[in-house]
Amino acid sequence: MDNNIVLIGFMGCGKTSVGKRLAEKMGFEFLDTDEYIEKKENRKVSDIFAKEGEEYFRNAETNSIKELLHLAKRTIIATGGGMPLREENRGLLKELGLVLYLKANKDITIKRLKSDTTRPLLAGGDLEEKVDRLLKDRRSIYEATAHHTIITNKKSFEKIIKEILRQYNSKNSLD
Ligand code: S3P
Repeated sequence: MDNNIVLIGFMGCGKTSVGKRLAEKMGFEFLDTDEYIEKKENRKVSDIFAKEGEEYFRNAETNSIKELLHLAKRTIIATGGGMPLREENRGLLKELGLVLYLKANKDITIKRLKSDTTRPLLAGGDLEEKVDRLLKDRRSIYEATAHHTIITNKKSFEKIIKEILRQYNSKNSLD
C-alpha cells in the first residue's frame, strides 16, 4: 500500500487542500508540482509565465513529472491545473500513481477563484467567461487522464478523503 496518489483537476478544485489532509491521514509525503517548480526556479509561477511564457512553464511541468517518477514514493502529488494538457504528461502521470480527478462544478469553481490574484491564466478580463471556456476545453482531458473522478463540490474534506481511500484500497487489493 505505498503507491503515490496524483490529484488532477481545474484551478480551485481543492487539489492542494485535499492533498495535504490526505497525506496527513495516510502518513504520506505531500508535494505540489507548482511549488516544486517554484523552488527549482526560485520564482513564482506568475513570474515564470510573465517572463518566460506559458510554453516554458509547461516544459518545467513535464520535467517535474519525469523527476518525480524517480523521487516520489508514498507521496500525494497535487498537480497544476494544466498538467494533463500535454499528451506526454498524461502517460507519465499514470505511471506516477493512482490518478484522481477532483471535479467541482462551474459555479463553485468561479466562487473559489473570484478573489484570486496568483493565477496568470485568469488575470484580467471576465472570470466567468475564462473559466467557462477553459472548463469546456479541459473536462474531457481530465476525465481521460484519471483512473477515477471524485466529485468535490460542497462535500466535506472527510467525505472526499473517504472516497479517495476507497478508490485507493480497491486498486491496491487488485495489485
Ligand atoms: C494552471 C494552474 C495553476 C498553475 C498555473 C497554470 C492551469 O495551478 O499551474 O497557474 O493551467 O490551470 P493550480 O491548479 O494549482 O491553480
